[in-house]
Amino acid sequence: MGKKGREIVQSELNINEVVEELNRAVASEWTAAYFYWAASNVLKGFHGEEVAEFFEKQVEDELKHASKLARRINELGGVPIDMIGKVEQTSGEKLTLPNDHTDAEAFIQKALEVEGKVIEYYNRLAKKYFGKDHATYQVVSEILASEVTEEEELETLSGKKR
Ligand SMILES: [Fe+2]
Ligand SMILES: [Fe+2]
Repeated sequence: MGKKGREIVQSELNINEVVEELNRAVASEWTAAYFYWAASNVLKGFHGEEVAEFFEKQVEDELKHASKLARRINELGGVPIDMIGKVEQTSGEKLTLPNDHTDAEAFIQKALEVEGKVIEYYNRLAKKYFGKDHATYQVVSEILASEVTEEEELETLSGKKR
């Protein structure tokens, strides 16, 4: 990002803090991507197959979110976190797969728990950046909308909604 762009953000917010918040979001996206990837490879059974297929698609979505955030971090003059070994710690999220790999519903519930947390986090960031850093606000609100859609798809998959 150019000088003026950074000045505008800096006058309203602490850029280092924004970079840190966005990096935490990057870590959450990687955690979610890993969960969906691992889950899609262990799920068994009839309903499990359908859920695995959906989860496989989610991996791509979450990594796209991470890339969007990383691009914005770069623009802000920050460095997207060097992830290896730090993802779990930074995201504050410990993800374990349900023990019963035929219990597709348990996997959906775990995914809903993950998505619920990221929705809360992005909502908090969106409120904070609104009217202060338009570009970052746009990035987080776009991702927020995508997570809300995912949550709804997961709910549909679990049969709660029709
Ligand atoms: Fe995401
Ligand atoms: Fe998600």
